[in-house]
Amino acid sequence: MKLLEINNFTVWYESLFGDIRALDRCSLWIEQGNISCLLGINGAGKTTLFRAISGVISDFDGKITVGEILFNSKSLLKSKPYSIVSMGIGHAPQGRHIFYTLSVEDNLYLGAYPNRKEIDSKKKIEKEKDYVYDLFPVLKERCHQKAGTLSGGEQQMLSIGRALMSCPKLLLLDEPFLGLAPVIIEEILKSLKHLKEKGLTIFLAEQNAKAALSIADFGFVMDDGYIISQGDASQLSTSNVIQEIYFGENK
Ligand SMILES: Nc1ncnc2c1ncn2[C@@H]1O[C@H](COP(=O)(O)OP(=O)(O)OP(=O)(O)O)[C@@H](O)[C@H]1O
Ligand SMILES: [Mg+2]
Repeated sequence: MKLLEINNFTVWYESLFGDIRALDRCSLWIEQGNISCLLGINGAGKTTLFRAISGVISDFDGKITVGEILFNSKSLLKSKPYSIVSMGIGHAPQGRHIFYTLSVEDNLYLGAYPNRKEIDSKKKIEKEKDYVYDLFPVLKERCHQKAGTLSGGEQQMLSIGRALMSCPKLLLLDEPFLGLAPVIIEEILKSLKHLKEKGLTIFLAEQNAKAALSIADFGFVMDDGYIISQGDASQLSTSNVIQEIYFGENK
């Protein structure tokens, strides 16, 4: 079943020096229960697509001209970011965007904010927090530490953990491996595999194609805002399209 469907989606950013087309008739879909990845070099449009899914491209900086984004067959285009979270989309953004001066635990509680109105919310939030602590035990050890004092890897785990606190059906991860040591990447990959086994659908944007394809079921390759290739992860790993966009071969 298609959990997310993006059809012919185009985004223009308005600028004083002329509009910038960041996404160009982008079409893709995410199968429920899969890990899918979006690969592409700097400026390909990965973050723009993730921000559009989460509803955080405002009229101020972006102008969506054409296309549709459907989640569970429902359009997301007129929804506010907080209701998109409530519908079941969690987002760990590029650059992590955690709250540096707050503790690890308070960062996690903020991720649960959309669930606050549920009658059993307190219990549910504590349960979700324990789940995050089981997944990333280092966060439990550091629960009272200010988030800004965590290492890069720990901050990434916190960003993922915060996104999980809203109990998403779809988790968007924008460049989670950026700047991390291979051993930490391995640790995060293991956690993502575990989340998939528990039934979570994951959509991962990465420049680290090797790491992303090592856990993905399916992948899309984006260049200049356009999906230029797609296929099973095993197929993409051996395809020369990745070589071409990353190393500029045959261009
Ligand atoms: N707020 C904005 N205003 C104007 N242009 C923007 C804005 N955000 C992104 N862009 C432009 O849109 C294009 C796509 O950028 P985007 O950040 O989506 O790419 P990306 O694939 O995530 O790159 P990276 O791998 O470096 O994170 C780029 O040309 C970028 O300069
Ligand atoms: Mg990006």
